[in-house]
Amino acid sequence: MDQAAQLRNIIKGNAKPEHLSRVITVTSGKGGVGKSSFAVNLALHLQRMGKKVVVLDADFGLANIEIMLGTRPSANLADLMYGGKTLKDILTEGPEGVGFISAGSGIKELANLKREQIFYVLHSLVELDDLADVIIIDTGAGITDSVLDFVVFSQEVLLIVTPEPTSITDAYALLKTLHSRQEFETSQTRIKLVANRVKNEQEGKEIFDKVSIVAEKFLNVPLQYLGCIPEDQEVSKAIIKQVPLLQCNPSSVAALSMIRLANQLEDLPMNQVQEVKGIKKIFTNLLHAKLKK
Ligand SMILES: Nc1ncnc2c1ncn2[C@@H]1O[C@H](COP(=O)(O)OP(=O)(O)O)[C@@H](O)[C@H]1O
Ligand SMILES: [Mg+2]
Repeated sequence: MDQAAQLRNIIKGNAKPEHLSRVITVTSGKGGVGKSSFAVNLALHLQRMGKKVVVLDADFGLANIEIMLGTRPSANLADLMYGGKTLKDILTEGPEGVGFISAGSGIKELANLKREQIFYVLHSLVELDDLADVIIIDTGAGITDSVLDFVVFSQEVLLIVTPEPTSITDAYALLKTLHSRQEFETSQTRIKLVANRVKNEQEGKEIFDKVSIVAEKFLNVPLQYLGCIPEDQEVSKAIIKQVPLLQCNPSSVAALSMIRLANQLEDLPMNQVQEVKGIKKIFTNLLHAKLKK
């Protein structure tokens, strides 16, 4: 098959046989609620369970995943788009073999890509789908277009919320904006809420009730409750040490909760598992309008 035909097949989703990654997108309305901390430790736990996990840091602000992993990548997604780097060049090996890709300015630049560059990006993502069982996307916070683009096209979204009133209202605002996006379909995106930094189980459940009742009533967006993570100083200590919590303090209460939530994601009853679509699909959707031109 010539390269043009191969690329057409990639875009149409006809390129077979194909291994697809399960993509889990971690997001929040408000920043600083624990997205990156959870993303890193979720990745580590799933990797320990025998999955090949890659974290994609799509947070354009502070590149904190690399700080948390204590690993600095030498190149990022933007270098792949513009600098002729390959997927292997931008995929860094982190603790215990967890893969890590920094988006750099790459996500923002998606809008500016030329057709050939788009093909090259998609081609590289097919390789990533082939290589990773699970891809965890750590988005930036907030209701910016680039965050929502990911959330809209993701099959599985973890919405992190803390007891702070602004975190709860911003989570709702994010859902509301999401709902207003034409491309958003509740049947295609499963949103699971994680209550972080809670005093106890009850506070976690209350946060879930607050957000889910209004989301269901006013937006008709159903939420699932994945569970809660308690407030625990060990989370901050791990960040300062630049070692994931699951490595430096695996018996801390926050670590145990993160493990419990990660296991719950693993053991979803069969009827809750959707057909896995892979990372390529998300980017193809993201770039769809440009590809049509
Ligand atoms: N369960 C927790 N208990 C105590 N502090 C936490 C917890 N989760 C996150 N934090 C703290 O909150 C801050 C922001 O966490 P981070 O993971 O960087 O959030 P985000 O990625 O959402 O911006 C960090 O200083 C971290 O130590
Ligand atoms: Mg972060």
